[in-house]
Amino acid sequence: MSRVVYVNGDYVHEEDAKISVFDRGFLFADGVYEVSAIIGGKLIDNEAHLRRLERSLSELKMRCPVPVADIPFIQRELIEANNLDEGMVYLQVSRGVADRDFNFPKDEKPSLVLFTQDRPISSSPKAARGIRVVSQPDIRWARRDIKTVQLLAQSLAKQAALSAGADDAWMVEDGFVTEGSSNNAFIITADGVLITRQLGNDILSGITRRAVLDIAKQENLTIEERPFTIEEAQGAAEAFSTSASAFVMPVISVDHKAISQGVPGPITQKLREKYIELALETAT
Ligand code: PDD
Repeated sequence: MSRVVYVNGDYVHEEDAKISVFDRGFLFADGVYEVSAIIGGKLIDNEAHLRRLERSLSELKMRCPVPVADIPFIQRELIEANNLDEGMVYLQVSRGVADRDFNFPKDEKPSLVLFTQDRPISSSPKAARGIRVVSQPDIRWARRDIKTVQLLAQSLAKQAALSAGADDAWMVEDGFVTEGSSNNAFIITADGVLITRQLGNDILSGITRRAVLDIAKQENLTIEERPFTIEEAQGAAEAFSTSASAFVMPVISVDHKAISQGVPGPITQKLREKYIELALETAT
């Protein structure tokens, strides 16, 4: 049975969902997006995702065609229509349809599209085993804090990682890890210090990153928000990445070198469990 998706005010089956070839999201990657996780049919940390959506829109001087406060209603309609228990709801706002021109259209009519994806997150087999990452040069633009749909660099990095026999890429710029292809990167030293790059224009301010740092604080871990190198990651006691689509994902090797024993680390596993507990408690 095909999914029900949302396109500019209509709930339609996916094969009937249409966007114009003149949509600026298609022609210029002139669009922003968000991915919220669903567990037990409920949205995880959705308010924070919607606040980040508002920020991305405002940085690009783009309007949302519906009040952002109405979006949870659309998300819930889709969860219900597709009988979704666990997975994700994707939403994208683009600057809409206009004849191809680099200037913004005068009479802007933004497009809004939402769809769901059914997949295991809380009990994914990958999380039990951990993932292998390889480094890739970070060739993205200079405003990675805006969650735009221009994901070609990330797609190339991830594909290169898969071709190298790994599961994901950690991107490197000026000798330091920025973030994963679609996640934030963390390491834990032998003396239990949690290290992740500080926020700025060079990485996305991950919603899961924020929640996991709060949990780490409650667990009395020392936190250092600073850049780290691939060599430092290879010598770390533990490593993991965070995202709405994978929560806390253990990393077991970096550039083909095992992290400690090459299995998910105990602090990582604890952070993952605590994050899932919090997500379930606060889901809406
Ligand atoms: N990606 N960094 C990048 C480049 C990302 O694309 C993402 C999320 C994150 C983690 O952010 P959050 O914790 O808010 O999901 C960090 C989503 C899941 C995606 O593109 O599918």
